[in-house]
Amino acid sequence: MKIQGIQGSLTEVKCDVLIINLFKGVTAPAGGTGAINKALDNLISSYVIEKEQFEGELNKTYVLPTYGKLPADKVVLVGLGESKKFDLNKVREVSATALRKAQELNAKTVCTILHGAGVAGFKPGACAQSIAEGTLIASYKFDKYKSKKEDKNNKVEEFSIVELENDKIEQINKGIEKGKTIADGVNFARDLVNEPAGELTPSKLAQTAHSLKGITCKILEKNDIQKLGMGAFLSVAKGSNEPPKFIHMTYKPKNPKAKIAIIGKGLTFDSGGLDLKPRGSMVTMKDDMGGSATVVGVMSALPTLKPEVEVHAIVAACENMPGCSAYKPGDVLTAMNNKTIEVDNTDAEGRLTLADAICYANTLKVDKIIDIATLTGACVVALGRFASGIMGNNQDLIDDLINAGDDGGERLWQLPLYEDYFNSLKSDIADFKNAGSREGGAQVAGIFLSKFAQDTPWAHIDIAGPAWLDKNVKEMPKGATGAGVRTLINYILSL
Ligand code: BES
Ligand code: MN
Ligand code: ZN
Repeated sequence: MKIQGIQGSLTEVKCDVLIINLFKGVTAPAGGTGAINKALDNLISSYVIEKEQFEGELNKTYVLPTYGKLPADKVVLVGLGESKKFDLNKVREVSATALRKAQELNAKTVCTILHGAGVAGFKPGACAQSIAEGTLIASYKFDKYKSKKEDKNNKVEEFSIVELENDKIEQINKGIEKGKTIADGVNFARDLVNEPAGELTPSKLAQTAHSLKGITCKILEKNDIQKLGMGAFLSVAKGSNEPPKFIHMTYKPKNPKAKIAIIGKGLTFDSGGLDLKPRGSMVTMKDDMGGSATVVGVMSALPTLKPEVEVHAIVAACENMPGCSAYKPGDVLTAMNNKTIEVDNTDAEGRLTLADAICYANTLKVDKIIDIATLTGACVVALGRFASGIMGNNQDLIDDLINAGDDGGERLWQLPLYEDYFNSLKSDIADFKNAGSREGGAQVAGIFLSKFAQDTPWAHIDIAGPAWLDKNVKEMPKGATGAGVRTLINYILSL
């Protein structure tokens, strides 16, 4: 889809579908919607609003044919909800709703009003960015394995944001570019997660990371990983025929203001290992590399966004399988920092791979470490699919990430990391175990990771819920979501 800002009047643009909007409770539309109302002989105010009782409720739509009274073929009126509750996240949401309606109507060319720039008074660039993000995230489809592409006929080809004032066009186009780069990062991550585990092996993930433009990438093979003493990571990989890959990507600008590491859990498949998962829990476990897809998606966007921050992205990629050399319950593993771990449950594998990745990040002398992982079912139980859990050892970092998420349309909810959670990880024979109490399971995993982060400011984001949706939520269609890409990009841009 081509997406652009154009100078012109809504009453003069030619397109299949023209998108306009209405706040809740407005009976006499003004601005762009007012102009269209006038051109349609007050059809919107006297018929749609008064007779049909269209009240501008959030995400409600009303389709009007124009019968030649406008160059646009059809008008889609989208409700913005209450004006006091309106923000840039709602701009993303209504943009997605409007796009879906336009697709239903088989539109090839779509023009839209700049939601949010009128009564709500947001900057044109920010509104355009949110429209681009909402539209491109909603238009995503993973259909590469469909022999018949279902919706060949309802692909929008050209999408234009229409603005009367010429001096705003440049800001709008800049906003669109930024939104497009971010949405491309999100959609790239979704492609990786949606790809079946039989295809997207650790080797394929490493190749993909290596192919990113403007990013350097070092791949450590099994021997190198062994030399570094990553006994926890290597043990998880033992039950699979697919070789593990330790991926280290770097984005390095000329004069970086900060230096951070982002670590993504990269289990390209999690069968549970010898503590095998039941089929219902295993069926979506190709998504257990969601964290790694997120950091790859973030890295793919950085060369275009050009933040003045040095970013290291790290993925300990492998499969958790119950093959005959698989690691066993009761085994004692030694991580890169020489801590010993007794295996209580082979299905608590993510924290083992992350432990060594965090130790490795510490050798890079970064100012901050953020890990992002589909780590625990407990986090899904606690927060559902609408928020990721966040915890860590530094409140400022956690607050900054929560705010970056809010701005980007992603929710993070802090969970406490009391030292008491460590009690259930006590081991009789090693320094500690990899699993313990099911109660507070997300925090138990968090406290385990904290033993590897040590004093570096560190935050852990558990995306086990939001990484995968089985129905559409706001701008996000079901399937892989690329959870965390927008949060991490916004955070990096804020440094
Ligand atoms: N990959 C899973 C966590 C998960 C669950 C992700 C549901 C997405 C949706 C993780 O490796 C796991 O198996 N965790 C166990 C830990 C337990 C054995 C301590 C869990 O949550 O049950
Ligand atoms: Mn597991
Ligand atoms: Zn897992």
